[in-house]
Amino acid sequence: MADRTSLAVRDLAVEFRSEQGVVRALDGVSFDLHAGRTLGVVGESGCGKSVTARSILRIVDRPGRITAGRMILDPGTPREVDLAQLDPESKEMRGVRGGRVGLIFQEPMTALSVHYTVGNQIMEAVLQHADISKAEAQNRAIELLREVGIPRPETRISAYPFELSGGLRQRVGIAMALAGDPEIVIADEPTTALDVTTQAQILSLLRRLQEEKNIALMLITHDMGVIAEMADEVAVMYLGRVVEFAPVEEVFSEPRHPYTRALLRAVPSILATPRQRLSTIGGAVPHPGARPSGCPFHPRCSEQLGALCTEQSPRPVPPGRSGAACFKVDQSEAVTA
Ligand SMILES: Nc1ncnc2c1ncn2[C@@H]1O[C@H](COP(=O)(O)OP(=O)(O)OP(=O)(O)O)[C@@H](O)[C@H]1O
Ligand SMILES: [Mg+2]
Repeated sequence: MADRTSLAVRDLAVEFRSEQGVVRALDGVSFDLHAGRTLGVVGESGCGKSVTARSILRIVDRPGRITAGRMILDPGTPREVDLAQLDPESKEMRGVRGGRVGLIFQEPMTALSVHYTVGNQIMEAVLQHADISKAEAQNRAIELLREVGIPRPETRISAYPFELSGGLRQRVGIAMALAGDPEIVIADEPTTALDVTTQAQILSLLRRLQEEKNIALMLITHDMGVIAEMADEVAVMYLGRVVEFAPVEEVFSEPRHPYTRALLRAVPSILATPRQRLSTIGGAVPHPGARPSGCPFHPRCSEQLGALCTEQSPRPVPPGRSGAACFKVDQSEAVTA
């Protein structure tokens, strides 16, 4: 597809160093985000989904550090910049954070303060990224609240976050993420804390906003139902790597990686209850500090091929192509353009 590439992440590695040793949370992650499209990022707890999101925004918690890789925003344009090379505290990075790239959290209160009205907070976010008057910022805040489907926004701007329901609070969280008019939005488990009905409403809001504004959306979830409903392409992560990448239809109709198949078997029906346990995969995700040799999935894989899988590491899927990092999959066939 000819959609513009908004972000090209290549070979990204992130390490947490402590006295206990080095934890490689991301181990060579590559993918692209495209304007007007949704990349669904899925995988069990601890596989590196949030660290990927936080790396792009350069807000990885200490002692986490990007040790390798590039994150090229707007590649091939005059605005091209490698986010991995920017100082997290620099003016340029602050302009990216909340400006060119918006973030929606699982718990909207992460982005909101209890001490200020939602109107004040959205105005503040608008003013950080636009050179306009306070009155104009207030109008923009009302307009944003209307865009995210908050009824009576003229009065609601005076509400404090705790006066709103969970669903309305997440709508405010989305308005905050949109305040800088971003070209990329990263949503990290945006509906996990919500009931099923509200979850469906928030997902359809995200889809509508994305289409209207041609946003490149990176949607992180552990819920294959959400992936089915929202994603154009899917990156399946395991222990800090993208182990499968494919258009969403392919992931559901012909999953390549044994891990992807196990994730799908763990969903009894699409749109099953969130937080489904992966009863079909034996064992748990190993700690990234104790990464298995060879293919990181081999200790839990029912299809492993012996020494090949236990000793050698399958090569990553080249960005922009469909495929799986798995010896069982004949990569010459499975990696398709
Ligand atoms: N602040 C930290 N200090 C040390 N290690 C960390 C820290 N944050 C993350 N990690 C490491 O990075 C790994 C990936 O974490 P991450 O938060 O990205 O997982 P996730 O895929 O978002 O999981 P979840 O589904 O639970 O949100 C963790 O397993 C952990 O080992
Ligand atoms: Mg997470």
